[in-house]
Amino acid sequence: MARLRVGVLISGSGTNLQALIDDCARADAESEIVLVLSNRADAFGLARAQRAGLPQRAIDHEGYDSREAFEQALTEALEASGVELVCLAGFMRVLTARFVERWRDRLINIHPSLLPAFQGLDTHARAIEAGVRLAGCTVHFVRPEVDSGPIIVQAAVPVLPDDTVESLADRVLREEHRCLPLALRLIAQGRVSVVGERCVIDAAAPDGALINPAPGP
Ligand code: GRF
Repeated sequence: MARLRVGVLISGSGTNLQALIDDCARADAESEIVLVLSNRADAFGLARAQRAGLPQRAIDHEGYDSREAFEQALTEALEASGVELVCLAGFMRVLTARFVERWRDRLINIHPSLLPAFQGLDTHARAIEAGVRLAGCTVHFVRPEVDSGPIIVQAAVPVLPDDTVESLADRVLREEHRCLPLALRLIAQGRVSVVGERCVIDAAAPDGALINPAPGP
């Protein structure tokens, strides 16, 4: 069976990209990364893609006189590679409604919070400041409103009393690296459908809850 052709957009270190590369290297993988694009030529994620032997290139947003022209270049590169699903993995450019509609329900993003809580930037500092007991990450289909759209996968982690932004970010990032490949697999297996603004997913539900602080004597 042909594998789902995935394009990955990055802007930075690319650890989420690396998680996808590793998962697509498994024998039972049902998707393949056919193109990696970065809006920054210095993104270490491009080196990760090169090391994995994947087609990769920088399309620098500063080389275009409008968002639309930049996004047209993205779409042309993605379509030339036959991309069927676009994955934003640390891509730090806001996309216009035109691009989002062009790739509607074939465009996913990973965000380091339990959406709809903490949309936007600095999610871990804001979670600590708010005193929440659970933080986490979300993989969702992209909609024009930033960090919104039908939710596919989420993971929750405890916020610990001595957490710093760095320690919480590390804990969440580890779960991002599990959730993004999981979302890709579910989509590649045809087990995700979008009904209205929610996802219906044909998959087992986890058992048990994550309670913080842990109940006990
Ligand atoms: C991740 O924390 C992701 O949730 C956020 O940007 C970060 C990207 O990290 N959007 P990396 O480039 O995948 O390492």
